[in-house]
Amino acid sequence: MKITVIGTGYVGLVSGTCLAEVGNDVLCLDVDADKIRILNEGGIPIYEPGLEAMVARNKAAGRLRFTTDVEAAVAHGTLQFIAVGTPPDEDGSADLQYVVAAARNIGKHMNGYKVVVDKSTVPVGTADKVRAAIAEELEARGADIPYSVVSNPEFLKEGAAVEDFMKPDRIVVGVEDARAMELMRQLYAPFQRNHERLIVMDVRSAELTKYAANAMLATRISFMNELANLAEKLGADIELVRRGIGSDPRIGFHFLYPGCGYGGSCFPKDVQALTRTARDAGQNLKVLQAVEDANDDQKHVLTGKIVRRFGENLAGKTFALWGLAFKPNTDDMREAASRALIADLLARGASVRAYDPVAMHEARRIFGAEPRIAYADSPMAALDGADALAIVTEWKEFRSPDFDTMKAKLKAAVVFDGRNLYEPGQPRAAGLEYHAIGRP
Ligand SMILES: NC(=O)c1ccc[n+]([C@@H]2O[C@H](COP(=O)([O-])OP(=O)(O)OC[C@H]3O[C@@H](n4cnc5c(N)ncnc54)[C@H](O)[C@@H]3O)[C@@H](O)[C@H]2O)c1
Repeated sequence: MKITVIGTGYVGLVSGTCLAEVGNDVLCLDVDADKIRILNEGGIPIYEPGLEAMVARNKAAGRLRFTTDVEAAVAHGTLQFIAVGTPPDEDGSADLQYVVAAARNIGKHMNGYKVVVDKSTVPVGTADKVRAAIAEELEARGADIPYSVVSNPEFLKEGAAVEDFMKPDRIVVGVEDARAMELMRQLYAPFQRNHERLIVMDVRSAELTKYAANAMLATRISFMNELANLAEKLGADIELVRRGIGSDPRIGFHFLYPGCGYGGSCFPKDVQALTRTARDAGQNLKVLQAVEDANDDQKHVLTGKIVRRFGENLAGKTFALWGLAFKPNTDDMREAASRALIADLLARGASVRAYDPVAMHEARRIFGAEPRIAYADSPMAALDGADALAIVTEWKEFRSPDFDTMKAKLKAAVVFDGRNLYEPGQPRAAGLEYHAIGRP
């Protein structure tokens, strides 16, 4: 099938590449000329396990191409995937300007039947806006060309995006006409060979499903974070509580890990956007508002522990930081907990020595030439000259460190673990002072 993917970011690049992998002819468009240049020169603009080799393989096979040429991109695909960003607007609602711009481009240049697939996370009613934007452009041209608009929200997880796309738990398709439905079935047939994963529904339900999924996951995290904070006050151990409740099949173990707050490009903005959508519809989503408030507080939970230990004035102190990415296996730092902690530490006069396996280039881009942030080549090198360590991302390589070396390197031998990576007895046996989340 001929497919155009509009927006070649985390979702667009992964989707386009995986669709090429099963034999489709894919053209990826982006307005960011730099991104397209990197891809055309054989590089890759993001870190995502397994993606680079898959891009190279499909490029070499001639099934995957990259362009900034809007007209060529619209001409290419019968299926036009919109995978552009939907960042939060000032009021928290999803900013649809990129989605609408992509739709307008399709309307301006299309010359035959198109299925326009909304893959970006968009509020309920967006498919109607996309349909209207295309209609307006066609009318301006005096053209009458048929098209369908489909909602196909993406559930991939950064860090496991290729695997998630190739072996999806489910494929949600919101569609209201048979012609588009048939094409979507054909498109996804290779991804569901051993059992049906397609869940077909109306467009509005599909749009809401994506927000409902992220809101539910964020709720579990905020719930556990609040309980962890309470466990600290009560002298209970949240890790034991987690095991105690996760074993209930109605609850399950997933997404019950307390920590220093969720981040990333999805949960924070999607929780906000759903709250806003509800408000516009005359309903106050009280649970979700609390989820957001709890998370905003939780991003400063390590700061609170550091201040209680070292005082408000941290001038002259240096904190080593393990992890900058919002979660492991990605270089994405959007809304990362590390950013809140770094801002808090700098505001109190401290310096930071950070290490992350893949996100340091992104951190340099974000923080620029901030003289109080240094970057280390290894986790242990980050401890050189540092008073204490804060762990913010649960990268695998942080899981079994040499606690004796850590004790020897850190001036104050204190560890603040925002991801509960260790059994407290381990670092303590080496003489480290260990502070975790919700653990005695
Ligand atoms: N990142 C994730 O894990 C994830 C998962 C599921 C859903 N989503 C959703 O997918 C959407 C995209 O997210 P992302 O993380 O890939 O964003 P991203 O910022 O990485 O990529 C978006 C890309 O779209 C490009 N773009 C903007 N306007 C354009 C236009 N008119 N024409 C062509 N390209 C244009 C941008 O230059 C950028 O490269 C969002 O709605 C997001 O909520 C993201």
